[in-house]
Amino acid sequence: MTLLVTGGAGFIGSHFVLDWLACHHETVVNVDALSYAGNRMNLAALADDPRHVFVHGRIGDGALLERLLEEHKPRAVLNFAAESHVDRSIAGPAVFVDTNVAGTFTLLEAVRGYWQGLAEPEKTAFRYLQVSTDEVYGSLGPLEAAFTETTPFAPNSPYAASKAAGDHLARAWHHSYGLPVLTTHCSNNYGPFQFPEKLIPLMIERALEGAPLPVYGDGLQVRDWLYVGDHCAALRRVLAEGKPGDTYNIGGNAERTNLEVVNRLCAILDEARPRADGRSYSAQVAFVADRPGHDRRYAINATKLAAELGWVPDERFDSGLKRTVAWYLSHRAWVDAVKSGSYRDWVARQYEARA
Ligand code: NAD
Ligand code: DAU
Repeated sequence: MTLLVTGGAGFIGSHFVLDWLACHHETVVNVDALSYAGNRMNLAALADDPRHVFVHGRIGDGALLERLLEEHKPRAVLNFAAESHVDRSIAGPAVFVDTNVAGTFTLLEAVRGYWQGLAEPEKTAFRYLQVSTDEVYGSLGPLEAAFTETTPFAPNSPYAASKAAGDHLARAWHHSYGLPVLTTHCSNNYGPFQFPEKLIPLMIERALEGAPLPVYGDGLQVRDWLYVGDHCAALRRVLAEGKPGDTYNIGGNAERTNLEVVNRLCAILDEARPRADGRSYSAQVAFVADRPGHDRRYAINATKLAAELGWVPDERFDSGLKRTVAWYLSHRAWVDAVKSGSYRDWVARQYEARA
């Protein structure tokens, strides 16, 4: 038995692959383009594991996908591959359409061809899982009810629109062709291996560098936070027991304003790595120009997943955040390798203009 995973060298995908191989004997074929966000160091623990087959390739390469599907005959395909950063999507949306829309289309077509050629019972048992985001639902007001699986799509950023388009394609491949598609919509993940362009690792790194902590706008935007390991556990439940054609929300029941998150990180760092001058890292907080079109609030109602598949998050936000800070403090080789020239260029472009 084999799984084919795309984007498995990224933040969430690498956690999924590592967790999967820790508790299953199946082979995982991992197709990743190794964009700036893909990192084989995340998978170093699998270097000598024959159950992990890494393939450097793109989901837009139909011929490659067809060959891999025929060769490895997976029982499921999980699509993590994406451009995933909202600020980059605003700065340059083309690659988001290329990967998240056209790439997903090419992947779906390759999977459809393979799946249609399967004999029973493999055909009925096959699953395609589209890993998506809560951002497709748009933005909530402070008192509005959390997103459910029936909330209409209203994406606001090029990233969210490209993910919504990919999700619509996956939905249509189920309805028109019968492909057994499962789709998940998850809130903000955090944990080890997250590229330090995203809020939590960016703030940890800038705090340690003594740089300003750039809080967009008034810092009162709300996100729901989920530890990455809990996301992977939810994906395993959906893959095992989700109903083809259904969508599932995944969330952490941990709504926080950005300012709360940044101040909490500062307090954890104040204890773990006190500043030389004895002041709190929160002295480095700097309010900067807001993200254009910034969604005010995301909140996830994940009761369907709890009621139907028995999944609830395990990690509490405060302990998860402490674990995450401890990981970044103790994995400096990973961080230093990631903060290469291209990362420095991005930070300079993104934050010098905002200051
Ligand atoms: P990431 O940016 O860390 O990793 C994305 C991975 O996809 C990288 O390894 C990259 O090399 C690879 N990739 C990019 N383009 C590719 C292509 N054309 N072909 C093959 N591989 C390609 O992203 P992440 O945070 O791990 O997110 C993974 C998935 O989960 C994405 O689909 C994202 O939309 C979704 N998601 C993320 C979050 C979050 O908070 N990070 C929350 C909900 C959903
Ligand atoms: O909600 C799920 C989504 O969460 C995923 O689909 C995306 O892939 C993932 O990147 C994340 O999107 P966000 O835009 O919410 O994450 P980000 O870490 O970029 O920002 C979190 C919040 O922090 C957001 O309100 C913007 C704010 N922010 C972010 C950065 C990078 C700042 O105030 N300053 C910053 O420097």
